Amino acid sequence: MSFIHPHLRLGVNIDHVATIRNARGGAHPDPVRAAILAVQAGADGITAHLREDRRHITDDDIIRLTGEIDRPLNLEMAATAEMQVIALRHEPHACCLVPERREERTTEGGLDLVGGFVHLQPYVARLRDAGIRVSLFIAPDVAQVETAARLGAPVVEFHTGPYCHAVGMARADELARLARATALAHQLGIECHAGHGLDYDTVVDVAALPELAELNIGHFLIGEAIFCGLEDSIQGMRAAMARGRAKAQ
Ligand code: PXP
Repeated sequence: MSFIHPHLRLGVNIDHVATIRNARGGAHPDPVRAAILAVQAGADGITAHLREDRRHITDDDIIRLTGEIDRPLNLEMAATAEMQVIALRHEPHACCLVPERREERTTEGGLDLVGGFVHLQPYVARLRDAGIRVSLFIAPDVAQVETAARLGAPVVEFHTGPYCHAVGMARADELARLARATALAHQLGIECHAGHGLDYDTVVDVAALPELAELNIGHFLIGEAIFCGLEDSIQGMRAAMARGRAKAQ
């Protein structure tokens, strides 16, 4: 029988609770409160992106998240010296390395592991030596997956943005790319995660990819929570993921 990862985890990204808080410069709404609620609603972990410009999550949020959340924290960050110091200080369960440009609205592409190999090799090794699970956010490309293996990364997270934005045949092509890349990563002994742009519809076919172990989802869940509350939006996502997994059986 072919491989199916036994449990598809949901990591809830709470960045955009902080985006709303920061719009007024106060303390409300509190992303840590959202993280606690997300865990109560069934999130397997919490994801937060500490950006260089601190546009949403702040250093204090990371301190509070590591202290107050009893599920794994996945710290998304750029592979900079500043972020490495912060990661080594807080020792989150996982660090997901992402490319970052100040002018982008959100993480736009995957990391270029091939071009960045020389920089990333000691960077990944340092985090791994500290016991932090390193995940590399990449496009579903063969060269990137093979390079992730050479870097000794235990996890890759595949960028689902292009799949979510594509329509018609182009979407089917993007899904096929994701399927090939997850199969290859699994063969190379790398745990597969995915995320970016997923909603109740787009998540279904992604959740059907049998090698996937985790999805990280934020913007849609926080946006939908305005209408139905965070608990319902997370439970709705769980139900959509379960529909996808049923297709993988
Ligand atoms: N995974 C990574 C690496 C990301 O950068 C993001 C966006 O912060 C997400 C997942 C979640 O994407 P979205 O907010 O579109 O669900």
